[in-house]
Amino acid sequence: MSATNASVSEATMPSLNGTHLSEDGMRQQPVIRVSNLVKDYSRGNSVVHALRGVSLSVRPGEFMAVMGPSGSGKSTFMNLIGCLDRPTSGTYELDGVEVTHLASSQLADLRNQKIGFIFQGFNLLPRMDAFDNVMLPMVYAGVPTGTRRHRATVALEAVGLGDRMHHRSSELSGGQQQRVAIARALVNAPSLILADEPTGNLDSRTSVEIMAILQRLNQSGATIVLVTHEPDIAEYCTRRVTFKDGVVLSDQTNANANSAATVLAGWPADDDEDAAA
Ligand SMILES: Nc1ncnc2c1ncn2[C@@H]1O[C@H](COP(=O)(O)OP(=O)(O)OP(=O)(O)O)[C@@H](O)[C@H]1O
Ligand SMILES: [Mg+2]
Repeated sequence: MSATNASVSEATMPSLNGTHLSEDGMRQQPVIRVSNLVKDYSRGNSVVHALRGVSLSVRPGEFMAVMGPSGSGKSTFMNLIGCLDRPTSGTYELDGVEVTHLASSQLADLRNQKIGFIFQGFNLLPRMDAFDNVMLPMVYAGVPTGTRRHRATVALEAVGLGDRMHHRSSELSGGQQQRVAIARALVNAPSLILADEPTGNLDSRTSVEIMAILQRLNQSGATIVLVTHEPDIAEYCTRRVTFKDGVVLSDQTNANANSAATVLAGWPADDDEDAAA
């Protein structure tokens, strides 16, 4: 697998290594810096205060888990840092650029260039095959056809789907579909990967496989923010931020993040159909 990994970082994520980290590993400016982020949703005559003043920074190379009860504002936060929505007030700098006042078209460009989404809501197109689903963000970004095909192939091989490229997404298992979504998220070489419950509907082994892929991407330079309800999944991340009622309740670093690859290596071979993938 390591040869494949090397080729994915070269072919699809060239800007990740060295862009944000200087030679000696000193951390440069945050990828994300939010300050007093507030998001209110109007609902009839009432207002839902989904975020009530969130301030935090995410540095290059971090792998941050976002936890907290249902309704605590996690997806709202992800939508804002993914430039899919605007805050009611507060500031957001993405790679040092204040984005809250940018025009919609500029936000769309930033999303395409910098952010890879693995959201459960961002479903694959069921009648398109895996290859075409992965090609789609590059079509939007205007990547030339030859490069598109090369990157899509490398990305699908990197997530272990080299033999499933021409299956429609409706013909793939949940774990395989999630891997297509990961391949799709990384083809434009994003500096930031946002994943909202990427293992939410998966069995435990497939969940660890997904985390192994994300850890590999993180090790090759991608900054990742991942929402999860599962404490076991958060153990693979280097930092854990917990939301409650629209504010940050706690923010802890995890110096001893589990290695998903190590966990998988010790996993007993069983009847799991994805085990061979
Ligand atoms: N588009 C919307 N319009 C109105 N209210 C909304 C909207 N989106 C979210 N909310 C409300 O904002 C609050 C935060 O929602 P959010 O989706 O961010 O929670 P969450 O932490 O992601 O929860 P879950 O774990 O269930 O996904 C909730 O009270 C929710 O009902
Ligand atoms: Mg949510």
